[in-house]
Amino acid sequence: MTATQLPGLLPELEVIRKDFPILERTLAGGVPLVYLDSANTSQKPQVVIDTMVDHLEHHNANVARAMHQLGAESSAAFEDARDKVAAFINAPSRDEVIFTKNASEALNLVANTLAWARNDLQVGPGDEILITEMEHHSNIVPWQLLTERTGATLRWIGLTDDGLLDLSNLDELINERTRVVSLTWVSNMLGTINPVAEIAAKAHEVGSLVVLDASQAAPQIPVDVTACGADLLVFTGHKVVGPTGIGVLWGRREVLEQLPPFLGGGEMIETVTMERSTYAGIPHRFEAGTPPIVEAVGLGAAVDYLAHIGMENIHRHEQAITAYALEGLATVPGLSVLGPLDVTRRGGAISFELDGVHPHDIAQVLDSRGVAVRAGHHCAKPAHQRFGVQSSTRASSYLYTTPAEIDALVDGLNHTRAYFKVG
Ligand code: ALA
Repeated sequence: MTATQLPGLLPELEVIRKDFPILERTLAGGVPLVYLDSANTSQKPQVVIDTMVDHLEHHNANVARAMHQLGAESSAAFEDARDKVAAFINAPSRDEVIFTKNASEALNLVANTLAWARNDLQVGPGDEILITEMEHHSNIVPWQLLTERTGATLRWIGLTDDGLLDLSNLDELINERTRVVSLTWVSNMLGTINPVAEIAAKAHEVGSLVVLDASQAAPQIPVDVTACGADLLVFTGHKVVGPTGIGVLWGRREVLEQLPPFLGGGEMIETVTMERSTYAGIPHRFEAGTPPIVEAVGLGAAVDYLAHIGMENIHRHEQAITAYALEGLATVPGLSVLGPLDVTRRGGAISFELDGVHPHDIAQVLDSRGVAVRAGHHCAKPAHQRFGVQSSTRASSYLYTTPAEIDALVDGLNHTRAYFKVG
């Protein structure tokens, strides 16, 4: 069997690659681009680019405010994108889908409005917020701000040596004081896929809310907001082959309706007097000001594109490529992977260390060969600290990644070792 026949690879991989014009790029020295930084941001298919250009060329107008034909077309396209996103995550209602700037803004929206709520959802002194040690900073800092400002306590689930959540003391960590459990579905650093439905069930036993950061999950595994057990779930557009500048907050209607506004401004109101305002219902209550219209339209095209290929198929492809990458990386002397080695428990982001070479140097040598990876702390400093390292190199694949690109990574790493004369 050759690498191109790996079981699980998308059969139409070469056709899919042609959908992404940037993959044709060559870089300095005429080397072809090998893009292994999709956990950072994914590349964009032509259909997303064309849909956004078409909107700007032919339908551009503000939404909800403009009483003319272009305004109606733009509003319809924007709301159609909401329908597409709702279908992509199997949301029970389109009104439960809120467009934000990114996943960070969505998490900040949740953390702030939980402090401001004047009902059972309000977080205050004595309450506990539970996160995990593998969170991206965007699912740590908003909760630190919330707990500092409200007198609540921040707690976290630790990690095992192989990069899984350490659930041995979960019964103590989730208790009658727990008000929110907020965790990542898939780690952007370790790749770990967390047992979110199991943790959500435990959290619900004590009446806690469950917030899922699906930024790395939504690109690579089918998301069903009901089945995963979330009360609130966030992801970002640019990792699901959509544009930057748009994120999604989904929440159960009963929860969203109890949360106060986050940002005040146009279109989020019911009425305004000089003394006070009353607010629109969901989703508009949380979408103050002119929203990211063309970005939403692009995101709609993006999730349609992924749905057309099939998220189950994309997940299988990611697993096949990840297994192949783990095998290849295991042949590089002095290389150790941070995170689980069992491909069924991880996604396509693989962080690693190479004895004797700094991650920035690795990334630079790889870049000179056209191989784009991320080096640094990947906005997950606590997870790096847990493993006693400051930074790592991360290769991350997606639906367009080929086994040949993994071979280029492994060759590049062997070349890096020779270049720095290690081993
Ligand atoms: N959160 C993105 C990453 O992991 C930016 O690279």
